[in-house]
Amino acid sequence: MNTPLGGRLICRQCAPEARDERRARAAELPRLPADRNLVLEIEKIANGTFSPLEGFMPRAEVDSVLDTMHMTDGTPWTVPIVFHVDSALGSSLRPGSQAAIWNTVEDRLSAVITVSEVFPLAKEKFARSVFGTLEREHPGVALMMGWGDSCVAGEIELIDHSTSLIPQKYDLSPTEVRAAIAERGWKRIVGFQTRNLGHRAHEHLQKIALEHADGLLIHPLIGWKKKGDMQPEVILDGYEILMERYFVKKNVMMAGLTTAMRYAGPKEAVFHAIIRKNFGCTHFIVGRDHAGVGGYYDKYAAHRIFDEFGDELGITPMRLHGPCWCSVCEAIVTEHTCPHEDAWEQISGTEVRAMLARGERPPGTFMRPEIGDFLVQRAREGRVFFEG
Ligand code: ADX
Repeated sequence: MNTPLGGRLICRQCAPEARDERRARAAELPRLPADRNLVLEIEKIANGTFSPLEGFMPRAEVDSVLDTMHMTDGTPWTVPIVFHVDSALGSSLRPGSQAAIWNTVEDRLSAVITVSEVFPLAKEKFARSVFGTLEREHPGVALMMGWGDSCVAGEIELIDHSTSLIPQKYDLSPTEVRAAIAERGWKRIVGFQTRNLGHRAHEHLQKIALEHADGLLIHPLIGWKKKGDMQPEVILDGYEILMERYFVKKNVMMAGLTTAMRYAGPKEAVFHAIIRKNFGCTHFIVGRDHAGVGGYYDKYAAHRIFDEFGDELGITPMRLHGPCWCSVCEAIVTEHTCPHEDAWEQISGTEVRAMLARGERPPGTFMRPEIGDFLVQRAREGRVFFEG
């Protein structure tokens, strides 16, 4: 199993026996509102998903990440983790003071932050570096441009966890996933990020990788996503079917990663890999257009960015090409191995959506029939896509 980035898993969660006292103290503090995305960021810091972070980044750290893809101490990192607020609220906070972070979705306390700095967020610089574009049509840019204009930096302590977005059995912390990996005795573990239902291209990538590993962690991202992306239950339930029918059960496990999608392509691929290292993975699958959206990134930009880090990430990317069905080979192939380009069956997300709208099962060459039937059923119930 792999070590966390920085050598130890961070824990910024209040001990259960201290909670009442912390809640009472927090009641005296000024409140900072946090939407669901921010609450999830806090919880990811608190349970070590974002190790070695112990809180929200100060300005120098953000600049360093944006300029160099490293933190000020040289640790690799590609997506700044910031707590944004309106400028007026930001200017009311003093360094050294504490504030209660309020979960506005559930109207209750989340955490306490010890403020180290309040600074203006350089949104254009952020967008250019992280997303590689300033275009507002890019969903990550659009979301970020809507944030408050100031950032509050400082260490946090999580006091009350939010209500889970997914069944508890999938909402696993790095500690829990590591325990499950240890129990299975896996040494080489490959992580798979996804925001989609498992189709045959994914399965192909997973199985190629699994040939080189003891176990596979299917780790769908559950959190904010753009309109048209898939809902959590359809992904998790679909993967249960796939694992049951098409995998050797003892070699695969699934957990949900509850954090927002950023659609930052290559920068997010590195961020995703670091997170999976913190969950114990030694290897991480990077396929075609990882974390991409709308043609903003070159198909294999997320492969190339890993060259800029050498060994320092401490997790091995498995850079894999785009699989699809070839009617000549009668197999799932990739452009790396198959010369029959004219015989490749490429089905886009838009085509799948149209098939589902007609109540048609996507072809078995694209998706296992059991998954196709399941998807058609969920589509009839209107439970497949985010409607925005
Ligand atoms: S992502 O935003 O999480 O990357 P998705 O769930 O589609 O989106 O992809 C999960 C992983 O599978 C990523 O590593 C991605 O590069 C890879 N992938 C998805 N579809 C394909 C495909 N058709 N060919 C190759 N790789 C793919």
